[in-house]
Amino acid sequence: MEGEKLDQASVLTQLRAIEAEALQAIEAAESLEALEEVKVRTLGRKGALTGVLRNLGDLPSEIRPEIGRFANLVKGTLEHALAECRKALEERLVQALLVKERLDPTLPGHSPTFGSLHPLTQVLDEILEIFQHLGFKVVEGPEVELDYYNFEALNMPKDHPARDMQDTFYVTDEVLLRTHTSPVQIRVMELKAPPIQIVVPGKVYRRDADISHSPMFHQVEGLLVDEGVTFADLKGTLQVFAERLFGKQVRLRFRPSFFPFTEPSAEVDVLCIICGGTGCRVCKGSGWLEILGAGMVDPDLFKRVGYDAERYTGFAFGMGVERITMLKFGIDDIRLFFDNDLRFLKQFQTL
Ligand code: FA5
Ligand code: MG
Repeated sequence: MEGEKLDQASVLTQLRAIEAEALQAIEAAESLEALEEVKVRTLGRKGALTGVLRNLGDLPSEIRPEIGRFANLVKGTLEHALAECRKALEERLVQALLVKERLDPTLPGHSPTFGSLHPLTQVLDEILEIFQHLGFKVVEGPEVELDYYNFEALNMPKDHPARDMQDTFYVTDEVLLRTHTSPVQIRVMELKAPPIQIVVPGKVYRRDADISHSPMFHQVEGLLVDEGVTFADLKGTLQVFAERLFGKQVRLRFRPSFFPFTEPSAEVDVLCIICGGTGCRVCKGSGWLEILGAGMVDPDLFKRVGYDAERYTGFAFGMGVERITMLKFGIDDIRLFFDNDLRFLKQFQTL
């Protein structure tokens, strides 16, 4: 009897231990997988409780019913706890999904990123608009140009030293990437009789590279031909242009210069806006930044295109759009225009 009693007590203790351990594990389960693991370990085919139930037959018949009843009680308790815990874990998963995927109309939307015009395009448009108000028509010409139009017809024969400053990319001996927009002067005059009043925007190419020189850059050419056009008209036009673009306070400097296709010729500088004229790396210490070349059209050109050089005079200019944009916005390195760094470009976003 002693042994039997002990056996009964020890089986009950074993059952309580199984129950306590399982309940604790169920409570601690953080996932359905962990819960399933507890279930297998306790109630599965090789589970601890299943083992006890399977061996009931080995117990003395007097204690068998009581142990059996108790074991079934424990089984019921554990099944109930497992079911409850499974429900709670599933509910938690559903809630998490709802939070993650719920449409919340009070959240700010995803705004699309807008593109914007490049600062050079913005300034080019502004330049053209100013000249259009002054009566100039916009005309374009080819970037891949004949040697004849780029040099020859502008009084720069093959051995002319002025070609040295405008080395370029050659397609063949006679075909090249234009070094300036001036060839369009000839192309337009060949097609049309005076009066002419045009501006010509476009890309040009040179063997140049530093903080104020780019191998590809933009120019706007201007050409005005009529009877009685003088250098005063050129100066006045450029002064009005500069005041409209930069504001009334702008300071221009006309510096005598030489171009084979204008006579007399000048280069025009703007007081460097980056340093205010005290000298910096952009104006190379001079306080002035050259923005354009200009002059009175050489009568040779008129003769070449069949104009009456006694009757007509004209002025022409060619301005650098990058230089003007640098001055307008205080940009101190021409290469920034072509790096395509969004941190730079976003500063000129207009939208
Ligand atoms: C010319 O290109 C002449 N065709 C201008 C001209 C037209 C004179 C009509 C007379 C009559 P120049 O080489 O100086 O001239 O260039 C004109 C402007 O282009 C310069 O003032 C400068 O603003 C700009 N420029 C020249 N080279 C570069 C370069 N590599 N990068 C950026 N801008 C440049
Ligand atoms: Mg120059």
